[in-house]
Amino acid sequence: MPFTLKSTIQLNNGVSMPLLGLGVYLMRPGKETYQAVKAALEIGYRHIDTASFYRNEEDVGRAVRDSTVRREEVFITTKLWNNDHGYDSALRAFEASLKRLGLGYIDLYLIHFPVPNLREQSWRALEHILANNRARAIGVSNYTERHLKDLLSHSTVVPVVDQVEFSPFLYQRDLLEFCRKQRIRLEAYAPLTAGRRLDDPRIIAVAKRHGRTNAQVLLRWAIQHEVVVIPKSRNVDRIAENARIFDFELTSEEVSALDRLHDGFRSSWDPTAAAWDFPAVVLPMMGYSIAAGGGKHYE
Ligand SMILES: NC(=O)c1ccc[n+]([C@@H]2O[C@H](COP(=O)([O-])OP(=O)(O)OC[C@H]3O[C@@H](n4cnc5c(N)ncnc54)[C@H](OP(=O)(O)O)[C@@H]3O)[C@@H](O)[C@H]2O)c1
Repeated sequence: MPFTLKSTIQLNNGVSMPLLGLGVYLMRPGKETYQAVKAALEIGYRHIDTASFYRNEEDVGRAVRDSTVRREEVFITTKLWNNDHGYDSALRAFEASLKRLGLGYIDLYLIHFPVPNLREQSWRALEHILANNRARAIGVSNYTERHLKDLLSHSTVVPVVDQVEFSPFLYQRDLLEFCRKQRIRLEAYAPLTAGRRLDDPRIIAVAKRHGRTNAQVLLRWAIQHEVVVIPKSRNVDRIAENARIFDFELTSEEVSALDRLHDGFRSSWDPTAAAWDFPAVVLPMMGYSIAAGGGKHYE
């Protein structure tokens, strides 16, 4: 069946997740986030991706509450920030996010980054949150295959999602394949390369052929891989443009040609360099500081 703006994928626990969402990273708290989320819901988006780190959970929650769309129809993701790892801290951070959002539950709660040493305890906290029906699903972000294998070796709940950077320039084929086998859905962040590679002539050529924009081609490529996309825009016209990806299709040759653009480009942090579990004393020597975010960030 062809995808539509209302298309969902099924997560491994039976919960449905819309294939397209609005990302709100680097949206200013207050009016900017509120208006973008309100506009997205009016256009037909039913999925918003925020994080405590983005400092705009309040505005996301307010826009959802003020909209005419029923809460049950909107899928809301937020994330556990790196400084909040550990069993009790993660539980507290989750409650704080819920309070800021002003919602009774969260659809998807993610570990934002595989912080060394503490992430196992944090995952147990997320399992507790899930068991208590405070979140409908739990997952991870920025986990490589190695981090996932480690998690699967001690967890009772398989994460529903791994949210990672994913674009033709960072076509994570092996991770996608591994996740498919484990019934973990891949979710693409920075699907528009954070705007940095949008003007690549090879994307332009495909866009011209279909009478589409470069952004639409990148998003369409990801959903044809059945990967959830969460493009960010604070501009109403671009929010609408990014949703018009369900009425055209790339050929399999075009998808393969775009796959071959992979050159390892990242707009964001690189979790492959994220420390494995080392004694805490070693981390500063490796340039890691859990307090500073457990990895090199991209801001
Ligand atoms: N888990 C993680 O570690 C992680 C990391 C990064 C991002 N994320 C999530 O993923 C979401 C998306 O990633 P991202 O925000 O980094 O990058 P992105 O969605 O790839 O790109 C956003 C940039 O593209 C511009 N843009 C949006 N639509 C456009 C269009 N149709 N034409 C031209 N330019 C367009 C935006 O500008 P305007 O706003 O001015 O339109 C913005 O500068 C984030 O908002 C966040 O929710 C998660």
